[in-house]
Amino acid sequence: MPVQVVVREAEVTDSPADLALLDDGERARAGRKREAAPFVTGHALVRRLLGELLERDPAGLTFARRCTTCGSELHGKPSLVDLPGWHFSLSYTASLAVVAVAEGVEVGVDTEDLTDADFEGFAGATLSRDEVASFEGLSGRDLLVARARVWARKESVLKATGHGLVVDPSEVLVTGPLDAPALRAWRAEEPAPPAVSILDLDLRTESHRAAVAGLTDEPLEVITA
Ligand SMILES: CC(C)(COP(=O)(O)OP(=O)(O)OC[C@H]1O[C@@H](n2cnc3c(N)ncnc32)[C@H](O)[C@@H]1OP(=O)(O)O)[C@@H](O)C(=O)NCCC(=O)NCCS
Repeated sequence: MPVQVVVREAEVTDSPADLALLDDGERARAGRKREAAPFVTGHALVRRLLGELLERDPAGLTFARRCTTCGSELHGKPSLVDLPGWHFSLSYTASLAVVAVAEGVEVGVDTEDLTDADFEGFAGATLSRDEVASFEGLSGRDLLVARARVWARKESVLKATGHGLVVDPSEVLVTGPLDAPALRAWRAEEPAPPAVSILDLDLRTESHRAAVAGLTDEPLEVITA
């Protein structure tokens, strides 16, 4: 049976109503950012969507973090404190925030701005040698779309597992940009997740690409909220 993942995106705006939803810790973090708006939009989006799905006051939700790598509770993958069966993931850039929520399955979401994929060392930084061939013949915007798509797939997996970029993305092999999304191989030292499903997300904007991963062998079904 497909695992339902609820996904919502929001354009980054400077919104006092968003800021009002954040707790003291989040506001303090926002205040330390060079650009607060993406952080505020993203965290308010998480609170609004979880509040709606769980029928809770969005401002009253409390979150914890735990690092998969070192066990610290000061950083790492965030979770809801008193609702352990619900999982979510947040990703944001300067202009867009995306959140994914699922019940009973760990999820990771990642969005990439095409302009951030426009650098020469992309292949060296993110791809294994086996993955390079699937980018051959692509150029211009097509190449940036391909890079952003594959990068989002990889990072969505690493956000679902909670490793983040502690694991070298070139050791997490995914299908080529023109193929259906899937994890092909896990070559990192860290233990591989027992099962992973990935979906590319259809965003409202053409400036980004995004993917969601779930730690399950069931297919994912995206519900756009
Ligand atoms: C997770 C990570 C890949 C996200 O990077 P990014 O592309 O810059 O940012 P995104 O917008 O896609 O995601 C950011 C959000 O991911 C979530 N997140 C943070 N760490 C995470 C992790 N380990 N796993 C899953 N999600 C994580 C948070 O909600 C974070 O938002 P916040 O920082 O405002 O709270 C990156 O921050 C990372 O690699 N972190 C791990 C570093 C680490 O743990 N080092 C110490 C190891 S001991």
